[in-house]
Amino acid sequence: MKIAVLPGDGIGPEIMAEAVKVLNALGEKFELEEAPVGGAGYEASGHPLPEATLQLAKEADAILFGAVGDWKYDKLERALRPEQAILGLRKHLQLFANFRPAICYPQLTGASSLKPEIVSGLDILIVRELNGDIYFGAPRGLRDAPDGLFQGAKEGFDTMRYSEPEVRRIAHVAFQAAQKRQKKLTSVDKANVLETSQLWRDTMIDVAKEYADVELSHMYVDNAAMQLVKAPKAFDVVVTGNMFGDILSDEAAMLTGSIGMLPSASLDKNNKGLYEPSHGSAPDIAGKGVANPLATILSAAMMLRYSLGKTEQADRIESAVKKVLEQGFRTGDIATADGVVVGTKEIGDAVVKAL
Ligand code: IPM
Ligand code: MG
Repeated sequence: MKIAVLPGDGIGPEIMAEAVKVLNALGEKFELEEAPVGGAGYEASGHPLPEATLQLAKEADAILFGAVGDWKYDKLERALRPEQAILGLRKHLQLFANFRPAICYPQLTGASSLKPEIVSGLDILIVRELNGDIYFGAPRGLRDAPDGLFQGAKEGFDTMRYSEPEVRRIAHVAFQAAQKRQKKLTSVDKANVLETSQLWRDTMIDVAKEYADVELSHMYVDNAAMQLVKAPKAFDVVVTGNMFGDILSDEAAMLTGSIGMLPSASLDKNNKGLYEPSHGSAPDIAGKGVANPLATILSAAMMLRYSLGKTEQADRIESAVKKVLEQGFRTGDIATADGVVVGTKEIGDAVVKAL
């Protein structure tokens, strides 16, 4: 099994080193091949997603991705910025189904900014559509406003678009995910204002006919943002578009105490996938050895489960992470009164030991 290892920028290489260490400790024969991506790709060959990196990602059975981005690339034209690497991989490989679980580990309820009774035992899954919406909709651009109150003024424009088949395929993924959980699916949209959302809602209702065992409800995105902090445990699976999902998944992540704990999977229709922590490249702490590698390690576990069919090894990694938390190991982002703060390598070593 070939795994493309793309560490990226900022804390990417540090957290990836720990995930690779954990994978190597499983005693399986994986072929791991590393390639530069993001700012590192730009430095290596003038593009955030170098041709060779894309090729490797296409060939591999799965992709393990660190994080991309650094302030020093903010002035580059958009097409050359590190973020284009992840957007390009999602688009080129048609990774349309993004799974972002938000689980509050019992040892970390104290690390959440919410009251413990609101978040303890939290286990929700956000299914975010990843190939469409305003992220990729054409036309887009900068121009002189052709009409309106400020005609002639400089304006930026983007297009929010969803086709019915696009909504349908993510709907199926979300319903099937709900079937494996509490069988409650909340579809989040803005159907009171947007046409794309109306189509989204109508399509969800139509697909629901094939999943009589799943309870479908609908929620406007503003209300969903509020309910997520008011009563997050009322949710089971949330399905939403690319833009709303970007925002809500960060919000959901923070309920758990730290975005540093949350893995994610982006899958195509054959369950080939890219696995990455839900957090970014954190350039402010890069190279200091303090970043939390657990989200990347848990992403490797998701990869074993969803793309490589190694459920038992995935379980082993997840149990090892739980054990390390029980033992009181913490990185700074998940520091709690009863734990001891260690560095990136130390917590990675603790996971290997627990394995
Ligand atoms: C995410 C990130 C990306 C996104 C950025 C880096 C392009 O925020 O994966 O949530 O907006 O999708
Ligand atoms: Mg985001």
